[in-house]
Amino acid sequence: LLVDKANYRHFMAKEIHEQPEVVGQTLARYVDMAAKRIALPFELPFDFNDIKRISITACGTASYAGHVAKYWFERLARMPVEIDVASELRYREAPLRKGDLAIVISQSGETADTLAALRYAKAQGLHTVSVVNVPTSTIARESETVLPTLAGPEIGVASTKTFTCQLMVMAALAVAAGKGRGELSDLDELKLVGELIEVPRLIAAAFAIEPQIEKLARDIAKSRAVLYLGRGTSFPLALEGALKLKEVSYIHAEGYAAGELKHGPIALIDESMPVVVIAPYDRVFEKTVSNMQEVAARGGNIILMTDATGASEATVDSLVTIVLPDMAATFTPMVYAIPVQLLAYYTAVVMGADVDQPRNLAKSVTVE
Ligand code: AGP
Repeated sequence: LLVDKANYRHFMAKEIHEQPEVVGQTLARYVDMAAKRIALPFELPFDFNDIKRISITACGTASYAGHVAKYWFERLARMPVEIDVASELRYREAPLRKGDLAIVISQSGETADTLAALRYAKAQGLHTVSVVNVPTSTIARESETVLPTLAGPEIGVASTKTFTCQLMVMAALAVAAGKGRGELSDLDELKLVGELIEVPRLIAAAFAIEPQIEKLARDIAKSRAVLYLGRGTSFPLALEGALKLKEVSYIHAEGYAAGELKHGPIALIDESMPVVVIAPYDRVFEKTVSNMQEVAARGGNIILMTDATGASEATVDSLVTIVLPDMAATFTPMVYAIPVQLLAYYTAVVMGADVDQPRNLAKSVTVE
């Protein structure tokens, strides 16, 4: 495989920076850019109206892409979705309904648990769609329909560009489902696809915060633990932020639904605990701000990732604000992934960690 780091120190940095391009390539495969309509690369062998429930299964970062997609399918297509990590789905004998839809998400297409979950769903008579980055992989071969991510080879062990490409595919699929079920009108589709078309440009614009994140990483590198909070689609992104930081910097991190804070993790808050709050100015913004105030009242140091409106509305002390481009609320995770990934990357660099090959980790987990 002939892939080099170009002018970057690490593959992870290169892959983070490739996102405007590869998310754009993926987008172009799933929408008709001129007509602003969803145009999936393959016709699906089922009708979304016949699907009662979607089961999404994956591991690690891919599972967080699935978790974001659950919110999209519920909102845009009014479809019930279950999201599971593959290692749980495969053994708990989940009752799946014949004729329903199982979606598995995997960069490598070789993850043992995800493959087993796919086989389980197939054996129960479900339609299977895989969202994979390696089109020749086992998962691609064994699934009924393959929806490729066009991220190109990902060398860094930590998934970055494949995550945002998975989100793009799932977003397109959720809009297609909403349209197919009559939950979205032609006009809704036009509006949502218009928003998707904006995403690569917004991702590129998000890199304006890079110098700020690089500086911030020096403080994060001194921390023993970091908490990530988010609501709605920012909740799975909080989980992804925590995973990314753990993987590459070895700093303990936890992602939490912001509303769960007072049910336990608030006990951890003191001056030494950075709390990363992911809160674009969306329908749950005010709720997240009140959780943030609870953190501030206990001396916690907050790093708020938001947009210009959010930054002016959020009035709390001890706040570092990372201001991202203004955008429509639905697809923010693809843009907010950038600061989350960069924070993990730069923290690992400050700590001198082996960014592309973190200890104990393999790029693809092909054994149980
Ligand atoms: C992500 O940074 C991880 N290295 C890991 O969680 C990964 O996403 C997971 O192992 C799934 O891999 P896959 O996408 O190849 O199936």
